[in-house]
Amino acid sequence: MNEILESILISKEQINEACITLGKQITKDYEGKDTVLVGLLKGCIPFLSDLSKEIDLPVETQYMIASSYHGTTTSSEVHIKYDLEIPIEGKHILLVEDIVDTGQTINAIIKLLKNRKAASIEVVTLLNKVDNNNLKPKYIGFTIPNKFVVGYGLDFQEKYRNLPYIGVLKKELYDK
Ligand code: IMP
Ligand code: MG
Repeated sequence: MNEILESILISKEQINEACITLGKQITKDYEGKDTVLVGLLKGCIPFLSDLSKEIDLPVETQYMIASSYHGTTTSSEVHIKYDLEIPIEGKHILLVEDIVDTGQTINAIIKLLKNRKAASIEVVTLLNKVDNNNLKPKYIGFTIPNKFVVGYGLDFQEKYRNLPYIGVLKKELYDK
């Protein structure tokens, strides 16, 4: 992967440790609560898979597809392409994201789910880009610099989601 990566930012081992730490924290905070993990497809898959195994509670798992990202720039609209299968009134929602950049996608989803009268809505994200000031997710794996990263669910033009680590994409690949 040296041809496309500038560097490896976060190793497989570091990700694993973060999943264990976050899982413990979530287990403690959500004990006794009717909780739904809502994975935001497609980027959430590796993270949701590893994180949810570290949550020692009978949580439900649901998915949504919301898109606001094309190539390497964020557009202003968020479309819900696939929605939850269940009503969420009175339930505690934990949104599972791969990365929060501007916070635009997640904010739009929070607004939507608030209207459905969830008991609470929080966000767990593996990565949080340092410059976003729109939103501070409650649970953050790593705060990262404002660079375009791929791997562990994160794509560039639908590729590289399968890398087991997080790498920084070479600038010349998208800065044309
Ligand atoms: P936001 O709405 O700006 O927070 O963008 C969130 C979405 O954009 C994420 O769920 C990702 O799908 C995508 N995204 C943001 N930054 C990156 C990146 O560095 N690499 C790959 N995808 C990214
Ligand atoms: Mg995403």
